[in-house]
Amino acid sequence: ERSYTLTLLPGDGIGPEVVAVAKDVLSLTASLEGIKFHFKEMPMGGSALDAAGVPLPDETLDTAKGSDAVLLGAIGGYKWDKNEKHLKPETGLLQLRAGLGVYANLRPAVVLPQLVHASTLKKEVAEGVDLMVVRELTGGIYFGKPRGFGTNDNNEDIGFNTELYSASEIDRIAHVAFEVARKRNGKLCSVDKANVLEASMLWRKRVTMLASEYPDVELSHMYVDNAAMQLIRDPKQFDTIVTNNIFGDILSDEASMLTGSIGMLPSASIGESGPGLFEPIHGSAPDIAGQDKANPLATVLSAAMLLKYGLGEESAAQRIEAAVIETLNRGFRTGDIFSSGTTLVGCKRMGEEVLKCVDSLTPAS
Ligand code: NAD
Ligand code: IPM
Ligand code: MN
Repeated sequence: ERSYTLTLLPGDGIGPEVVAVAKDVLSLTASLEGIKFHFKEMPMGGSALDAAGVPLPDETLDTAKGSDAVLLGAIGGYKWDKNEKHLKPETGLLQLRAGLGVYANLRPAVVLPQLVHASTLKKEVAEGVDLMVVRELTGGIYFGKPRGFGTNDNNEDIGFNTELYSASEIDRIAHVAFEVARKRNGKLCSVDKANVLEASMLWRKRVTMLASEYPDVELSHMYVDNAAMQLIRDPKQFDTIVTNNIFGDILSDEASMLTGSIGMLPSASIGESGPGLFEPIHGSAPDIAGQDKANPLATVLSAAMLLKYGLGEESAAQRIEAAVIETLNRGFRTGDIFSSGTTLVGCKRMGEEVLKCVDSLTPAS
């Protein structure tokens, strides 16, 4: 029996609601696939601030590092928004990503036929979209120094950040993106702002250089403002997108709306070695937290990515993906993806329906 230790970081807001669902789905899937999971649940984000005074306690990072994979719900909330930077939940998340060294963040956006009507775009625009945003996750303006607050010559308050990339940081994310594109449609679009920013000029130069190692991948470049527009105009022109930390953050939220809801988008963050980090791309959704309204499917699909990319358990991953699709086929929808003629359910009930599908899709043995 294959046995794995999984760190669960439920976090804040809807995080605990969606992680509870994903945990049940993982447990049932494991029992059907002959896998054993040891779950270690640790505090993270605002809940860790309240309990331990820091957004990422040492024990949480150590447990995460010592496990086979990490599943995170979401962190953040109004309560901690005015905290000093080092005491913000978001800072804990950045520390976790940096601490695990997970520089490559894969954010797939797939428009499922069942959800075409949930998209705010016209059917013919949204239908058939299947793209992957490869976001650099441990560099760029999120981490660049110098950063901080100060005063300028007029003694006016200033806040400043640095968009900074080294050649090796660009190369390693580019390699991941070329490999991803190679396994998909062989089309890679690198998104930057090389008409203005030096960090982007270097980005474009390095990505272009590496392209010669991937003759089977068709590389194109696009400025980020145009990319934001093209994603809405004609999203099907994209297959794999590679971009920096902040552009990837923004474009992946945008891409999520092609699929109907941010509540559907999972992600996988991986590094050179060590456990991967798997999390929905959405946040803690304080506006619906505690109301059993959250869509747990982004987290359930993140659990599937954990099985596939984190543990190499392809068949278990496919079982979960198939169960999600079957749940949608059976007509169950949380509020964010509801359309007329479907059955409106809450987070818990959605989880129960997914579990039924995980079970019923089991081949008789
Ligand atoms: P958000 O993603 O939390 O919410 C944006 C909107 O989408 C809200 O209306 C919310 O109700 C809705 N939404 C999000 N997830 C949903 C789901 N699963 N089902 C149904 N609806 C869903 O973004 P925000 O409001 O900008 O941020 C709220 C907090 O979350 C902030 O503190 C922010 O820093 C944090 N945040 C955390 C993460 C993370 O943990 N990875 C990601 C983004 C934002
Ligand atoms: C995300 C979030 C985070 C980010 C925040 C909460 C730090 O928006 O995971 O997309 O900007 O990376
Ligand atoms: Mn984001």
